[in-house]
Amino acid sequence: MAKWVFLGPPGAGKGTQARRLSIERQALHLSTGDLLREGMEAGSEVGQQARSFMEAGELVPDDVILDLVFWRLGQEEKDPDVIFDGFPRTVGQAEGLDQRLMEVGDAVTRVIEFTLADDLIVNRVAGRLICRKCGANFHRDFLPPKRVGVCNQCGSAALYQRDDDRPEAVRRRLEVYHETTEPLHTYYERQGKLVQLAADDDVDVIFGRLKACL
Ligand code: AP5
Repeated sequence: MAKWVFLGPPGAGKGTQARRLSIERQALHLSTGDLLREGMEAGSEVGQQARSFMEAGELVPDDVILDLVFWRLGQEEKDPDVIFDGFPRTVGQAEGLDQRLMEVGDAVTRVIEFTLADDLIVNRVAGRLICRKCGANFHRDFLPPKRVGVCNQCGSAALYQRDDDRPEAVRRRLEVYHETTEPLHTYYERQGKLVQLAADDDVDVIFGRLKACL
């Protein structure tokens, strides 16, 4: 089964595209950011460990992330197609994933690197709205909900802004991306698995490009 990795800076649209693709291909959408936020909401140990890192825009330690990802994969009865969204983010995580997949005779299929200029990222993240109930994702200007404050998908009035979408946390997330996550470009390029996807267009256009990359 396919194992796709979505790599790219915060706000590049990885989650938006991963959600669409997971529905169309019936693939597991495994977002480490979503899993960590669910853990924080539920007050789990992982959530408590992650909170201070996330609020500051720093990465959560590799051992916490790898345990979380392998735990989530272990919940599946069959081996599904998987979209890894926002994971791996360090070379250590990428090596951990390669090792784990190798142990079961599998490997990463393809890595899609979403590219977007930093100034566009700040606009996208600043306008993001998320539904607390179903996780659907909107943007005040680019992808507005039909009714202000109300989720199109589940109808609840629970749209909110993430704590780490504050300007200072976004700046730090971008720095961390350039310093720590960008080296994965070379890591996967050497494996011949990297495809770049220009993410500076309409959501539907990007979805078409994404499918051509897979
Ligand atoms: P995470 O939740 O993974 O956040 P991220 O990678 O920073 O990515 P985002 O969710 O901000 O952006 P996205 O690319 O998914 O964009 P989206 O589709 O939402 O991680 C958060 C934190 O958790 C990290 O900082 C870290 O602390 C921790 N963490 C997570 N994983 C970790 C790991 N592996 N290791 C260590 N720590 C980890 O789109 C953004 C906005 O733009 C939305 O409003 C959307 O509607 C809009 N939009 C999307 N596409 C378009 C378009 N084409 N045109 C216009 N608007 C668009």
